[in-house]
Amino acid sequence: MTQTARDGLTDRLINYLRKRPGIYFSWKKIVSGLQVERTALDDALALAADWEYKLRVNRAKGVKFVAAPDLLTSAEILHGLKTKRLGRTVHAYRSVKSTNDLAARLAEDGAPEGVVVTAEEQTKGRGRLGRNWFSPPKTGVYLSIILRPTFPPEDAPGLSVMTAVALADTLATWRPGKVQIKWPNDIWINGRKVAGILTELSAERNGINHVIVGVGINVNHRAGDFPEELRATATSLRRELRRKADRLELVRLFLHNLEQEYTLYLKYRLKKSLTRVRKYSALLGREVTLQSGHSRRTGVVKDIDRNGALILQTATGLETITAGEVTVVKK
Ligand code: BTN
Repeated sequence: MTQTARDGLTDRLINYLRKRPGIYFSWKKIVSGLQVERTALDDALALAADWEYKLRVNRAKGVKFVAAPDLLTSAEILHGLKTKRLGRTVHAYRSVKSTNDLAARLAEDGAPEGVVVTAEEQTKGRGRLGRNWFSPPKTGVYLSIILRPTFPPEDAPGLSVMTAVALADTLATWRPGKVQIKWPNDIWINGRKVAGILTELSAERNGINHVIVGVGINVNHRAGDFPEELRATATSLRRELRRKADRLELVRLFLHNLEQEYTLYLKYRLKKSLTRVRKYSALLGREVTLQSGHSRRTGVVKDIDRNGALILQTATGLETITAGEVTVVKK
């Protein structure tokens, strides 16, 4: 649950104690209930304290659960998570450079599909196109998930759009105003960016090794928390709702929605999600410029296809665009 993954004893202890909050469990009962050595409990309790769990520890009476912290701990994320494949294992950290980097390392070491890495803070959060992702502590969600699809690498780009739909659906549940997807992987609320997706593929000629889907969500940032240069273009759920949102609920709902979307994607690619892709699109019918490497094109966005590509009407005809940075020209 923290800097080292451990064996999950802290999570088991928390889950055990919270069955009867406010009631002491004797040491004897805990030791037999969890099948552990008494000495192992000291480490688990220290870790729980690091994560700001409020437990009362009494040498004579044992331990009781008082309150959970407002932090993304693995035990809290898993508590009430109803997914089958995604997020059944969560590595939660207080501070990391980048959850995407960590998830990639775990994937290279053989971690299975669905493993999730979260952090309260990122010191080198990465965005698309080499940008940084502003990742202050205790306010945002910084989450990466390992996927191991067996389809060919050419089908991977649509995973960003698939994730964007799951994220847009999740954020819309809070009714914060107009939720939109700016192809392929920015989420806007009321015209400002609230979340971004960084999908990183590791593949060889014979197939995909793994995909890391990284999601950064501005949840409880106040307007003044953003650096000056982001203030006009970035927002948070809190800023739009004018109240705080529960990050844990958000993470659990997102993992649930992502699992549903991913299941559809494995079978049908985006075919079954296209209605929502179009509904959320901030670009459909808009005149845009597309910067892709050194080339720059202008056109009107006609559609998004079942692989997640943008269909652009340019002066020379219809083009299918799979990558690039889009800017809206006309309102
Ligand atoms: C973008 O909009 O440019 C994409 C931002 C993606 C940020 C997330 S936060 C979790 C994960 N770890 C990272 O370093 N980046 C992604």
